[in-house]
Amino acid sequence: MSVLSTELINEIRSSVNIVDVVSSYLPLIKRGKNYFGLCPFHNDKNPSMSVSPERQIYTCFSCGATGNVFNFIMDYENVSFVEAVKMVADKAGISINIGQAKPSFNKNSELYEIYEISQKFYQNNINTADGKKAKEYLLKRGITDDIIKDFGIGLSLKKNDLLTNLLMKKNYSPNSLLKSGLIVKNEYGYNDIYYNRIMFPLWDLNGRIVGYSGRVYEDEDSSKYINTRETEIFKKGEILYNYHRAKEECRIKQSVIVMEGFMDVIRAYTIGVKNVVATMGTAVTKSQAMLLKKMAKDIILCFDSDDAGYKAVINCSEELNKVGITPKVVILDDELDPDDYIKKFGKELFIRKIENPINLIDFKLNYLKKGLDLTNSEEFAGYINNVIKELAKIEDEILRELTLNKLSEEAKIDITILRNRLAHFNLEKDVSVKQEIKKEKPIKIDKYVKAEQNLLYYMLHSKEVIKIYNKKITFMPTEKYRLLAKEISYFYKKYNYIDIADFLSMINDSPNLIKTAGEIMSLDLKEDYTIDEINDYIEVIKEYNIKSEINRLKEKMRLEVDPIKKAELAQKIVKLKVEGEIND
Ligand code: CTP
Ligand code: MN
Repeated sequence: MSVLSTELINEIRSSVNIVDVVSSYLPLIKRGKNYFGLCPFHNDKNPSMSVSPERQIYTCFSCGATGNVFNFIMDYENVSFVEAVKMVADKAGISINIGQAKPSFNKNSELYEIYEISQKFYQNNINTADGKKAKEYLLKRGITDDIIKDFGIGLSLKKNDLLTNLLMKKNYSPNSLLKSGLIVKNEYGYNDIYYNRIMFPLWDLNGRIVGYSGRVYEDEDSSKYINTRETEIFKKGEILYNYHRAKEECRIKQSVIVMEGFMDVIRAYTIGVKNVVATMGTAVTKSQAMLLKKMAKDIILCFDSDDAGYKAVINCSEELNKVGITPKVVILDDELDPDDYIKKFGKELFIRKIENPINLIDFKLNYLKKGLDLTNSEEFAGYINNVIKELAKIEDEILRELTLNKLSEEAKIDITILRNRLAHFNLEKDVSVKQEIKKEKPIKIDKYVKAEQNLLYYMLHSKEVIKIYNKKITFMPTEKYRLLAKEISYFYKKYNYIDIADFLSMINDSPNLIKTAGEIMSLDLKEDYTIDEINDYIEVIKEYNIKSEINRLKEKMRLEVDPIKKAELAQKIVKLKVEGEIND
């Protein structure tokens, strides 16, 4: 980030209006001083995100998402801070040169380097004589040299110390080697974990390699794929295979196709279907669901068309439902996965399939029927009940009515009976929602916590308050508030002014600080303050601190055996009590 000075960052930030930027992503409505819209960072039903033109920040009252224009773009587009700054600069027509800028990856930089080096090494292997068999295997599967290059596919060779030696020669610490998940230490010393496998790099959301999946190609006995274990920078549940490459295409096409395997994605990509990502065989997580939601309007599940794949569709659609999305589904013939389907039926038929996905409810209708004997009345009744349960989850009235009609025809049951049954389910749902709301109890906030919060609130708004805080050297008892106060103080010392939006730029790489700042900014406090009020907050905090110190000394005194030291402690306590005007 070195090429971007704070001054330049602030200039770029203040050259756009956050209201314009946010409203280029989602509709905003003006209400009072602020603008409101549906928060894109959680499943928002009523507009709970406010955008303040005055403070140039956004805050979601429901999920707590907050920040300035850069934070919004970072979270919405899943880009780094530097990229967000660049995007805003582009919008504002300010030219900056960050082409040379190597964002500092701080403590994980060695890991990223190790993956880069290993990828080059693996890819080189596949083009040598030792890689002939692997290459043949890939070619047989229709994976050409171009695809190998595009997807960075490589090969680990039979000898299991080659990568270890290479990295050791480059002086990487054994600690980093082990941390990377590519190397293991056993009784024979350090060795490669991967040998004789085709290596598929896995990327994070920004397109940096953070791990591998290694596939067997000769010895079908051992585990088909071995994935690198999770590290600080590689969390399988937070990435989607091919995300960084598909992102743009998804936005243009307004749809994202989700597959299970990365071989499926690679195949689809090669026939020109590029808005595809893969979950890589695990259940879809909440963060993947949120990610998909941000990628495109339409989400199409194109999983393996076997039992496991159908179950995965059901599970995934439930997770997507929680973030407010109903996906569509593609069913392939002959129980195939997308890769095999494309090979067997060809590009045109596949494209026709994905252009005509079926509704989730139709998929469920079929799925619920599977394995049942519908001539058996009991099983048939059970089936109808299950379908109605599913219908109760649908918010689209028309779709619900159409499906109800379909079911009535199929089952030859009067539609009013079905409708009554549906009403009954909806009733149950309402009751459980109400009970959930009841459970939430307001939390009682301690007096000193309130004082800390209020003081921080005004520190964020006024340099006068920061100065008072600095002079009286208040030590905030709550750690997160203490850290925030320290940063505000630092910002002021360095730049001699305070501005919330600029302050947020400075703390852009600490999500916890941003969260705390958001919590403080969304307090419902009056705009102006009096010096007396500020002093009161400080007094409350001081009193709390003195009391804690007294308690600490009392405990020390209790454990002290030396009578002289005991007396000294007692004296200290008395002194503190006088100082703090505490009389208990
Ligand atoms: N997977 C895994 N470990 C396994 C099997 C599968 O991590 N032992 C993950 C892989 O990411 C894979 C995905 O699950 O891409 C889907 O698995 P599967 O359908 O079995 O693989 P295919 O995509 O069909 O792979 P291939 O065609 O190479 O057999
Ligand atoms: Mn396959």
